[in-house]
Amino acid sequence: MPRKILVSNALPYANGDIHLGHLVGYIQADIWVRFQRMQGHDVHYVCADDTHGTPVMLRAEKEGITPEALIARVHGEHLRDFTGFGVAFDNYHSTHSPENRAYAEDIYGKLSAAGLIDTRSIEQYYDPVKQMFLPDRFIKGECPKCGAADQYGDNCEVCGAAYAPTELKNPYSAVSGAKPELRSSEHFFFRLSDARAVAFLREWTRGTNAAGERRLQPEAANKMREWLGDEGENKLSDWDISRDAPYFGFEIPGAPGKYFYVWLDAPIGYLASFRNLADKRGDIAVEDYTDAQRAQVSGTEMVHFIGKDILYFHALFWPAMLQFAGYRPPSALCVNGFLTVDGAKMSKSRGTFITAASYIDQGLNPEWLRYYFATKSNGTMEDVDLNLDDMIARVNSDLVGKFVNIASRCAGFIGKRFDGRLGATDPEPSRAFRAALESGSIAQAFEARDYGRALREIMQLADHANQYVNDHKPWELAKQEGAEERLHVVCSTALTMFRDLTLYLKPVLPALADKVEAFLGLPALAWPATWQPLPAGHVIQPYQHLMTRIERKAIDALIEANRETLTPAAPAPAAVPAVATSPQRHAEKQQHQAQAGETVAPHLTIEEFVKVELRIAKIVHAEHVEGADKLVRLQLDIGEAQPRQVFAGIKSAYDPASLIGRLTVMVANLAPRKMKFGLSEGMVLAASDDRGETPGIFLLSPDAGAAPGMRVK
Ligand code: MSP
Ligand code: ZN
Repeated sequence: MPRKILVSNALPYANGDIHLGHLVGYIQADIWVRFQRMQGHDVHYVCADDTHGTPVMLRAEKEGITPEALIARVHGEHLRDFTGFGVAFDNYHSTHSPENRAYAEDIYGKLSAAGLIDTRSIEQYYDPVKQMFLPDRFIKGECPKCGAADQYGDNCEVCGAAYAPTELKNPYSAVSGAKPELRSSEHFFFRLSDARAVAFLREWTRGTNAAGERRLQPEAANKMREWLGDEGENKLSDWDISRDAPYFGFEIPGAPGKYFYVWLDAPIGYLASFRNLADKRGDIAVEDYTDAQRAQVSGTEMVHFIGKDILYFHALFWPAMLQFAGYRPPSALCVNGFLTVDGAKMSKSRGTFITAASYIDQGLNPEWLRYYFATKSNGTMEDVDLNLDDMIARVNSDLVGKFVNIASRCAGFIGKRFDGRLGATDPEPSRAFRAALESGSIAQAFEARDYGRALREIMQLADHANQYVNDHKPWELAKQEGAEERLHVVCSTALTMFRDLTLYLKPVLPALADKVEAFLGLPALAWPATWQPLPAGHVIQPYQHLMTRIERKAIDALIEANRETLTPAAPAPAAVPAVATSPQRHAEKQQHQAQAGETVAPHLTIEEFVKVELRIAKIVHAEHVEGADKLVRLQLDIGEAQPRQVFAGIKSAYDPASLIGRLTVMVANLAPRKMKFGLSEGMVLAASDDRGETPGIFLLSPDAGAAPGMRVK
């Protein structure tokens, strides 16, 4: 029985460009969808722009256009970018749509009827000039802990403290500059703390979906247990789902001047996009996927692909909203980690904040990135590093050197010598391919979104095929008298193996697979139940060039195209905020700081710890800094193309000349910081006694054998 699956990707905000970080999750989902379809399953794949909220409203105002005009433009750009990377949604809709309004009102009405909506008055900062309530991110002031100026209303980027906007000293509105006033207003809350919601979420966390798989990855389930607390405990607080006018969103029925908070209607956008698709198509029974009862009977699935920063919304609010409104809760959440580039957070000053559009504009092949991301995807929430040199090496060696090479060495002979017709095939080399199909292990790896494992197995098969070609040397057979038939068999066998490799690579490299299907004269490849060689007599087309190598200079040009001159004062967001925040505030904050740190537990979780990228650094140069009495200027080699410059306050303890050549440990993903003397691109680690009993500074050194660039964890 084919599975029936509704698959969604997180809806990107309509106020920003798509960048390579976004693409991690979209490419992962697209591969999964393509794989499921090749297995014969029935998949609907939807997405939309997430259009509502204060940032979109203010940005449109700044550009002097209406929010509707802004979101229409961005919709076109986003769809173009996804299409450019082969991410092929069946529908790309908008949360600012009649379908979304209808679903939002319906769900809200049902939650209200179930007694799960409350109103209460809350006090918030209000901008008397702009005449609007201010979200935390639009209030600035001095940090209550360290006094740093111009800090946001939710946390300090200098010392990492987390606090409420009311704790800021000398607060001002980031919109108008006015001094905000505290005003109270009536807000609507979804009662997530209700015993029914808590009980349901505990159950949902533990459960499995229709395919018998766990709904959540182990790391996500752990997070859920942390948020829910122990049995009998209730750590959830109610969720503020309303915002006051002026707001770009949907007005709440029966509550003039009150709007649904953007995160209420954002995930509902999955359903809206699906409904819009069904209305265009006319052959989809929407309620089989969305209605709790009907979904049970029809056995449909609903799978959401999201990034780890928005797990909270998708694992708590969203399933509870659906459940208590009579809709079907999600079958599974597939959560991806965050992208780093060359081991560090994407950075505009370093040119590693790479937009999807710039990648395409620079003429790079989108399938290089799809392939590389796939090799790094393992189905967990771990962060993914785009190491540019590694990407070049992997693509050139695997795709050009191993895969394409098989066809380019064999296809010509079939055309020239055998009229494009294949001959008989050798059984022996194909045995490994038959066994691979029958074991199902590549399919299992795709199913589990462990694309890295799938590709390792596929590349082993490619090695096998290349070995066969090397052993039989068709280019020599072609010159030998009487070896005609052997040549025919060898080339036909190699092309059969090439067909299999294409089949396996197709979810990852759909455009390349299209070209191969045309060249081999085959209908769209689907996962076969049994293995068959290409039949003798089958006609293929003349070989055409399939893929070029990546050149380092193309990547360098891409980085240059994305490099922005540094704006001063971009200090490092502290990896670990110092004060515990409630899950509620955590969720609020995430909407505004899509990439910032996670909730703060009294203990550091391993996930939080590994965010600090420590690497072995070789001090290739060290010198005094003119005019600075504490600083030494270091040039650190951590295996990157260029050494990093770091200013370290170690002058009192070290003579720069003595440092050159030694190894130490550096924090490699600290945001670069502009200092009076130049850019500081990280930090070296040193011990010191802050009680002052053992004066001195002691730079850390690794044991012998450690090399520049090695990760320390
Ligand atoms: N609008 C919300 C999602 C609403 S879903 C109902 C949002 N938008 S976003 O544009 O910030 O992010 C879209 C997706 O991209 C999210 O899944 C997010 O986790 C993911 N990523 C954004 N930056 C990313 C990286 N640097 N790395 C990996 N994924 C990233 O969140
Ligand atoms: Zn501070």
